Amino acid sequence: MTVALSFLFMPLDVALDIGTSSSRLATSQRGILFDEPTMVAIDTNSGSVVEVGHGALDMVARTPRHVVVFRPLAQGATVDFDVTARLIAGLFERAGISKLSRARVVMSVPSLATSIERRALRQAAIQAGAREVSLIEAPIAAAIGLGLPVQDPVGSAVALLGAGASEAAVISLGGIVTGSARRQGGNDLDVAIATLLRLKLGVVVAPAVLEQLKITLASATGESRGHSEVVLARTVDRGEIVEVDVDADLVNSAVHDVVVTTVRMIQECLGDAPPDLSQDVSARGLTLVGGHARLSDLAGLVATSTGVDVRVADEPDVVVIKGLQLCLEEMSSLYALFRNADR
Ligand SMILES: Nc1ncnc2c1ncn2[C@@H]1O[C@H](COP(=O)(O)OP(=O)(O)OP(=O)(O)O)[C@@H](O)[C@H]1O
Ligand SMILES: [Mg+2]
Repeated sequence: MTVALSFLFMPLDVALDIGTSSSRLATSQRGILFDEPTMVAIDTNSGSVVEVGHGALDMVARTPRHVVVFRPLAQGATVDFDVTARLIAGLFERAGISKLSRARVVMSVPSLATSIERRALRQAAIQAGAREVSLIEAPIAAAIGLGLPVQDPVGSAVALLGAGASEAAVISLGGIVTGSARRQGGNDLDVAIATLLRLKLGVVVAPAVLEQLKITLASATGESRGHSEVVLARTVDRGEIVEVDVDADLVNSAVHDVVVTTVRMIQECLGDAPPDLSQDVSARGLTLVGGHARLSDLAGLVATSTGVDVRVADEPDVVVIKGLQLCLEEMSSLYALFRNADR
């Protein structure tokens, strides 16, 4: 009985990565429990949350007037505090974490987040029921998730390319030595493709189709030239549904500017590193993480533009949450040391 009760009141440790397009939750014992779109459907009559994640995404443009689907983050930052808190509460509920467990939460935060954005994120988790919130800079969480020796006096280089934010960092002795970041990411490619489709072909397509065009046709180096794909679209002038043949050249010219900015950001970060750390990076290479790192030929382009070996992490979109989960495991073992001494 005592054992059962003590288990019930054991502090619960939770890792959270609230991203612009996807949110992830993990616990040290049960691994990743939630990895779904950062979306919340709210009943505006009662104020209650109807769905979070995939359920909310499925409701977009299909809801009655009193249900509204929100995306509470843009460019890596919380733009709606209350909805973010409800999203986190929804994640806790889906993971079976009750408010009573008063979870200790470790959360990633983009390195370019302002102190107000950091406070908003922390408060949102507390409003959702967390007891204690620790924030970790996302590139450090990513490096831990990759198993890089972040605490050692050697330079580890990562570029974290998400949907709304991109950041590159050279890490040594547990901190970011040089870093550069942009409030720009994979979603900006979708927006750029949508703009060109409207201007050149006079059509509008669904968000899922934009992403599909990006995944199948876009290449950071224009390698996909000659390929094309037929998709369903709506004409701007008459509103008719038509089939259009989109060629890779159009998609590649749309994504070009964002790709160039991403490469410059990485060059800037590596160029600022002190000589010893630069040597480490040259010897050990740079790893790309985040969903946008999957863009075809991006790793090759970064490698030729920086002169450094570049690889894309396996499952690049879950590296940060895995890193946060490792932090929890370390934390739990350290807390166990405190408990042992606290007799
Ligand atoms: N194969 C692919 N090719 C190109 N882009 C891709 C591919 N797969 C996913 N993406 C893009 O990756 C992005 C999602 O990445 P991720 O899940 O890391 O973002 P996030 O964590 O939600 O955002 P952020 O960390 O910037 O707030 C989306 O823009 C998505 O379109
Ligand atoms: Mg992210």
